Amino acid sequence: MARILTGIQSTGTPHLGNLLGAIRPAIELAHKDDNESFLFIADLHSLTQIKGGSELRENTYAVAAAWLAFGLDTNRSVFYRQSDVAEVTELAWYLNCFYPYQRLTLAHSFKDKSDRLEDVNSGLFSYPMLMAADILLYDADYVPVGKDQLQHLEMTRDVASRFNHKMGETFMVPKELIRAETQLIPGVDGEKMSKSKGNTINIFDDPSALKKHINKNIVTDATPLDEPKDATGSVVWQLYKLVASESDAQAMAEKLQSGGYGWGHAKKDLLAALVDGFAQERDEFHRLMNDRSMLDAELAKGAERARAVAQPVLQRVRSKIGF
Ligand code: ADP
Ligand code: TRP
Repeated sequence: MARILTGIQSTGTPHLGNLLGAIRPAIELAHKDDNESFLFIADLHSLTQIKGGSELRENTYAVAAAWLAFGLDTNRSVFYRQSDVAEVTELAWYLNCFYPYQRLTLAHSFKDKSDRLEDVNSGLFSYPMLMAADILLYDADYVPVGKDQLQHLEMTRDVASRFNHKMGETFMVPKELIRAETQLIPGVDGEKMSKSKGNTINIFDDPSALKKHINKNIVTDATPLDEPKDATGSVVWQLYKLVASESDAQAMAEKLQSGGYGWGHAKKDLLAALVDGFAQERDEFHRLMNDRSMLDAELAKGAERARAVAQPVLQRVRSKIGF
């Protein structure tokens, strides 16, 4: 049995890229075989960016509702809010004291913003040590993440090994599980879908808003209606392929390539696939967003189970340190 752990920041309502690229694969992995999984909402990490309490809280609910709407079974997985297990901040402090400042200056999370140092808070600087604490606090074996998080995983392994070396065996040294890039979801402009690029598709949106967004913002070329079109190079078809069945995707490609089927038709079919294909998830998401007590209860249950694992590990660390 392997213990899998991963976190997702609460920076907004998850978009199609987050859902297909991170949330759905993490749920599949969590439910697979006899894996034991810890999945959490990294709201302490979000605090490095977001300073409004109500925004932070709303984002956490939206992320929790998205995971549950996509079928996460909270009896099988320990599902919790990072800030509910305050033990993690204590461990992060210890790890900070065992990690060289010089190395932290190399973290992309900080380096990418270091040209505007006046905007960098100390929390952002030590972000990788909080992430290391997230992982080491639960003796995780495997951490599924996107490629962009690989460096943070290396720092986690590094700080765990340094601590073990200085203080004696204390931490399990975790391994990363890098998600294949095959699931890189394009945004409406064809670039990687990302909140920061403003090119997202939000499947929880109202269908009429989704329709407007798709018609207005998904880029297409100017090939006239009757002419054959390049399906594989088009954003509409690439997105359709991700959400429709294989045979429907094949059928759309053939229609585009044979002419007489315009981008407007393709967008209409994409919209239908998004609206109908995720109808159940959309309904469940909104049902949960209107039932905060249910979300609170799920997260409280997870926090209690998480704490029961975290406390003995933290105790182990304290005694090694000499506290
Ligand atoms: P964003 O770029 O929108 O801010 P995050 O960086 O918060 O998204 O990503 C959260 C998770 O979703 C990460 O695990 C990331 O790898 C995954 N993810 C984000 N965008 C995409 C995408 N376009 N395709 C596949 N996975 C994605
Ligand atoms: N930094 C991760 C991201 O932005 C989120 C995260 C926080 C995380 N703590 C973690 C991921 C621990 C895996 C394990 O995607």
